[in-house]
Order: sequence, then C-alpha cells, then structure tokens
Amino acid sequence: KAVEKKEEKKPAASTGNFTHVLAIFLALVLLGLFLRIFVFNKSTEKTKNYHKYKTPEDLFRNVGEAIIRYIKQNPKARIGLASGSTPEGLYQYLIRKYEKGEISFKDVQFFSIDGFCGLSKTDPNSYYYSLTDKFLSKIDAQEKNIHLLNEEGTTLEDFERNANDYNELLDKNPIDLQILSFGENGHIGFNEPNTDFNLLTHIVELTPEKREEKSKIFGSLDKTPKYAITQGVKSILQAKEVICIAKGKGKAKVVSDLVNGVFTKKSPITALRNHNGKVTVCTDEEAGEKINEINKMF
Ligand code: GLP
Repeated sequence: KAVEKKEEKKPAASTGNFTHVLAIFLALVLLGLFLRIFVFNKSTEKTKNYHKYKTPEDLFRNVGEAIIRYIKQNPKARIGLASGSTPEGLYQYLIRKYEKGEISFKDVQFFSIDGFCGLSKTDPNSYYYSLTDKFLSKIDAQEKNIHLLNEEGTTLEDFERNANDYNELLDKNPIDLQILSFGENGHIGFNEPNTDFNLLTHIVELTPEKREEKSKIFGSLDKTPKYAITQGVKSILQAKEVICIAKGKGKAKVVSDLVNGVFTKKSPITALRNHNGKVTVCTDEEAGEKINEINKMF
C-alpha cells in the first residue's frame, strides 16, 4: 500500500513542477517585453522621416542643430562624416557654433565613408585632407579621436589591408550617427548602382568613366587613382542612426526614389529604406521638389 501511495503522488508532483517552470517562463517573457518596450526601445527606434527646408541655409541650420543636440546628449558619440560638396555648408555651420563656444567636439569620435587609394594624408585630393581641412582642423576634434579611412599604400594588398582594418575598427566601434549624402545616380560613398550591396568596407576598382570624371581634379588620367576605398552599403546600414542630406535640383529624382519609392539596386541610397534604426532625410526645396509634403514619415 505504501508503495502504491508513493506512485499515486508522482503525477501530482510533476504537475506542480510543470506549473512552476511555466510561471518562471511567463515571468521571463513578461520581463523581456518590459525591457524591450521601456528600456531598450529608444536605441532600437525604427523610424523614417523626411523634412524639407526652404533654402540650403535653413537645411544646414536645422541639421546642424540636430547634430549639436545629439552630441550634447552623447558627448562621446561616434559620428560618420559624409564627403563631397553637399555637407560643406553643414560643417561650416558646426564650425561657427564651435567658435561661439556653443558646442565642443573634444570627445566625439570621427569616422569617414570613402576615399581614394594611394594618396597621402597631405595630398589635397585625399578625402582625409579635405575633411580635415574643411572641418576637423577647425573644431576641437582630438587627433586620437579621428579615424578616417586610410587612403595610403601602393599595392592592392595595402589597400585591402586598410579596408579590413577599418572593418575591424567599425566592428569594435559601431557608428552611432552617420551623416550621409549621395550622388545624382544614387551612389553612396563609392557604391555605384547595381554593385554588391552586401559588402562591408572594401576596395572598388574605378570604372574608366569614373576615372575620366575624377581626372578633372587630378589634372590628368595618369595621375588619377585606379582604386577607391569605401564603406559598403552593408556597413552604412549598420550605423545606428542616419541623417541623409541633399540640396539642389540634381538630387530631386533620387530623393523622390528614396522617400516615395521602393528599394532598388539601381539606386544605392534607397537601401536606407531597409535600415533598422532611425533615418532622417533632410533636403532643401530644390532637392525636395518632387515631394509634396514638408514633413512626412516614409
Ligand atoms: C562623391 C563621393 C561621395 C559623395 C558624392 C556626392 O562621389 N565619393 O561620397 O556622396 O560625391 O557629392 P556631392 O555632395 O558633391 O554631390
């Protein structure tokens, strides 16, 4: 009888255990949901906004103020700088604010998106020189916090090593806020239409057309680099937040593809539609002429 009794109790005990495990499991699920919604939600915010400003001055003032707010909240932010002529007005705005003592960049870490291969830091055509000359040397950025792409080297192996080093760097130091601009065919960095969007920082062999176009700044085709280094579309999408800027009529079609269209390999910038965090697209009136709204979510 005693043996029988023991056997009868067994199912009751295991039901009790099961209920216990279920309760713990449910409690963990609830805790996970709570943390996801109330604690981590801010850093995984997934929003896409578009803003149109009347003039380039309005555009750069508003974007500049947004960046200043960001840095005040995150003084050690890792910021990716855009190259080309578009962000120059933005950098000038930020320099003026620094000169007035309204913002310090001393703990900000700076990164870049692209460059030519085989140019020294002192070569006026290097992106390193350009970003330093037009922005970083005019604010209180510290040398130890400047991590622009390395354009130096003589062989393809040197260039590829530079790209791999940058991937290691970005892996350990993911970019918090990427400032981004793009070309009239939608290219970002040196990621041209219909190229592989699944790459991290890599080396691009410049097409004869691209070299021809760039030869204007180098004086002759002979002096024009054959390769460029660029963050890949995949790396750009890994930045936690992106502010994309455009000005002028020449960018209007691409802005419309990005804000009103769908992701297409024909226009690398439309990959931003697949970004998992916060994307803000800001244009002047001309670049936004194909978008009816002044503000919109997309
Ligand atoms: C170059 C750069 C890109 C830049 C693009 C747009 O091709 N490699 O990084 O986004 O130009 O330049 P701009 O702003 O002068 O139109």
